[in-house]
Amino acid sequence: MSRKFAVAVPLMLAVAAITAPIPASAEEAPAQLKAEAQGLVKEYATNLQTVLKGALQSSGPQGAVSICHEQAPQIAADISRRSGWSVGRTSLKPRNPASAPDGYETKVMKEFQARIAKGEPAANLVRAEIVSQNGVKVFRFIKAIPTGQVCLTCHGTQVAPELKAKLQALYPGDKATGFKLGDMRGVFTLSKRL
Ligand code: HEC
Repeated sequence: MSRKFAVAVPLMLAVAAITAPIPASAEEAPAQLKAEAQGLVKEYATNLQTVLKGALQSSGPQGAVSICHEQAPQIAADISRRSGWSVGRTSLKPRNPASAPDGYETKVMKEFQARIAKGEPAANLVRAEIVSQNGVKVFRFIKAIPTGQVCLTCHGTQVAPELKAKLQALYPGDKATGFKLGDMRGVFTLSKRL
C-alpha cells in the first residue's frame, strides 16, 4: 500500500463517518421490512381514523376522548399481537404517559423537527433502519404524523374548556396541546427484533 493511500483511506472513512446520515451502529433497512412496516402503519392509521371519526360523529369531542382513551391503546395492542411487531405512537409532547418516547425515538423526532424547521413537510418524514440494542439487532421504523384540521379540536391551541377539563381528568400530565396545522403531532413507531 502506498503511503499516500494509507493516509487517504482513513481520511475518507473519517469523512464518511461525519457525513453519514445514520449512526455507525445502524444499517440500511431491507426493503421487505420497510414495506411490511408501511403496510402495518397504513392499517393502524386507518383503524385509528375510523374509530376517531365514528366517535366524533356519535359522541362529540368529549365522548370521543373517552373512546380514544379506551380504544387507541387497544388498536395498537391488537396489531402488535397479530403481526409480531411492536406497533405504537409516540410524541415529544405525549398525552398518554405510556406513549412517552425512548432515547432512539426522541433522537429521530428531534431530527424530524429540525428538518420541518427548514421547510420539509412533516408528512414526508420517515426513518427505517436496523440498529443494535443491547447486542440485539432491531429493525426500527418511524413515520411522522402531521397535525390536521380535525386534530386541533383536541390537540390545538384553543381546546374548549370542558374538553380540556375532560382531558386533564384522564391525562393529568397531558402535554399534547398547543399544536398548529401542519406541525408534527407525533410519530408512528414500529420495531421488530431480528
Ligand atoms: C377527540 C379528541 C382527539 C382528537 C380529535 C384527536 N386526538 Fe390524538 N389523542 C387523543 C387522546 C385522548 C389521546 C390519548 C390516547 C391514549 O390514551 O393512548 C391521543 C393521542 C394521540 C397520539 C399518541 C401520542 C400521545 O400524545 O399520547 C397521537 C400521535 C395523536 N393523538 C395524534 C392525533 C392526530 C394526528 C389527530 C388528528 C387526525 C388527533 N390525534 C385527533 C384525543 C384526540
